[in-house]
Order: sequence, then structure tokens, then C-alpha cells
Amino acid sequence: MGQTHIRTPKNFVLEERLERYADAIEVAPEIYRGSWAAACAPVRAASAATADDPAASPAPAAGTFDAVYLDLGCGKGAYLAACAARDPRSLYLGMDTEPICIAYAAQRIVENRLKNALVLPRSAESLARIFAPGELAGITLNFPTPFPKRKYAGKRLVNVDHLLAYRALLAPDARVTLRTDSQPLRDYALTQFEAAGYALHWVSDDVRAEHPGHPETEYEARLAAQGAAVYGICATPAAAPTPAQIQAGRDAEQSLAEYLPRDLGSLTYVPLGMEGYVVNARNRMAKGKAATPNSDARAR
Ligand SMILES: C[S@@+](CC[C@H](N)C(=O)[O-])C[C@H]1O[C@@H](n2cnc3c(N)ncnc32)[C@H](O)[C@@H]1O
Repeated sequence: MGQTHIRTPKNFVLEERLERYADAIEVAPEIYRGSWAAACAPVRAASAATADDPAASPAPAAGTFDAVYLDLGCGKGAYLAACAARDPRSLYLGMDTEPICIAYAAQRIVENRLKNALVLPRSAESLARIFAPGELAGITLNFPTPFPKRKYAGKRLVNVDHLLAYRALLAPDARVTLRTDSQPLRDYALTQFEAAGYALHWVSDDVRAEHPGHPETEYEARLAAQGAAVYGICATPAAAPTPAQIQAGRDAEQSLAEYLPRDLGSLTYVPLGMEGYVVNARNRMAKGKAATPNSDARAR
């Protein structure tokens, strides 16, 4: 999982899990490009209607889902499953590069007998091969891997090039929603949404209080217990950005340390992935080696 560590039980055998929960995993998602809503609904409607599975979530009667939502970097699937359970007329797709996450998310879907959720073992880089223009009603980016170092800025799921790729796949008025424990990542993302020509619906320092409709994710629960706030952005594509606007976004691809508060002593919570940097910067400041906490960030 990028820079994060996934704990697995001792008896966890990945291949076995992937096989056991295969019904909820789409291993060839490219086949459904342009037809997710129609192609996935009839099968699920038929299986949901069987009398021997009364607890199955009701599927759409008309044989097509109303909308298709993508949870990009879905992790172990808590958010995906909660969204699918409360909105049976829509199809919820989770995408993740980490096979262990795929196995856990698929297990959750199968055990909750959700007929309107699937997981796709793919990376964000393959989105255009999996979805047609306008096919997605929304994309959620919940606690995306922050990749704080400048040299990995291209991997951030909120960088301008990723946001440009999402634009093409979104239906009119569809939203991209970021939620993160990282104020630096959120503030960096603001520059990127602007560069990619999005209009902001909201920007929040406390998503849980201000937009409580979002189910809790695994990372959210874990980081909240460590004192994290949830920062967020919700935005929709607006007028296509100019080349200069896009370039400004690329030029802003720097270390997330640039977005930390100047006074590191005031930080009560250190965002995921930035622990090492903050400890080092505090030590350097204590020894008087750096004039400001961010003075060496540009080199990273
Ligand atoms: C910090 S975890 C958050 C998981 C979940 N959204 C949550 O909030 O609990 C980030 C997830 O994004 C996945 N990820 C990172 N880069 C990705 C990419 N390019 N495409 C798809 N998934 C990615 C990782 O494998 C990981 O599971």
C-alpha cells in the first residue's frame, strides 16, 4: 500500500481469499468500458431476486443502474460497502492496486450480500481503458496515499494530470471528493483542482462535522483515534483549463512539507507519511540548523 503497512492475520492466504471472494472482483474491467450501468445490473437483479437470499440488497428493477460511482484507492472497502448498502440503485466500484485490499474489500461485499458493488484490481493510470467519457457520476478519493516527497508528486491522486484524466470520465455535474487527514495534501490539492479547471463546491477543515453524509473509512477510523481532523475538497469540472493554467499546476508539484505550518511546534497531529520529516525538522530546529522548518523542503 504505497508507504503504508497492511496488517494481515497469521492464517491469511491471499490467493485463497481472492478465489473465495472472486464474485465481487472484476479481473477484466476493460470489457465493461462504456456499459457498466447496463452490463452489471441485469445479472445482479436476477440474483438479488432469489427467494433463498432474502437479505440481499434490492437491485434496480429496470435492468440498469441509475449511476456508477468510483471509490479510487478503496482500501479494504468499508466506505464502498456502506455507500452501496444505502443506495442499491447505483453501482459502486472500488479500485485499488493492492491485492490484499482487493481481497478484503471483496470479502466485505460478499459477506454483506451487496449486489451493486465490485472491486477492480487496477491502478488510476488505467482509468481511461476502463471507463468511457461521461460514465462516472462521481469519484471519491478517501485518504489517498500522500506521497509527500516532490519526486513522487506525479503519483498523488490529486495532482493536475490525474484530475485532468478524471474530467474526461465524469458525467455533467459529477463531483470529485477528496477527504484526507493531511492539511498539506488538501492545500496542495487546491492548487491542482484550480489548475485542472474545477469549480469548488466546498473546502473543509472538518468534513465530519460539515459533511457528515460520508461513511467512515478504515483509515479515517484509525487516524481519528490518533487525533486527526478530516480535511476535504469537493469539486466539479468547469471550463477547460488553459495550457498555462495546467503548467502552473505542474510547477506547484513540490514537497508537501511546503504546505506545513511554519511553526511546527504548533502541530498537534502529524499527517500520515510526514512523521519522519516533522521529527527531523523539529530536531534540526532544536539544534538551530535550519532557519525555518520549510527551508530544506524545496530540495526534497
Ligand atoms: C491510505 S490508503 C486509504 C484506503 C481507504 N480509501 C481508506 O480511507 O481507508 C490508500 C489506498 O490507495 C491505494 N492506491 C495508491 N495509489 C493508487 C493508484 N494509483 N491507483 C489505485 N489505488 C491506489 C493504496 O493501495 C491504498 O489501498
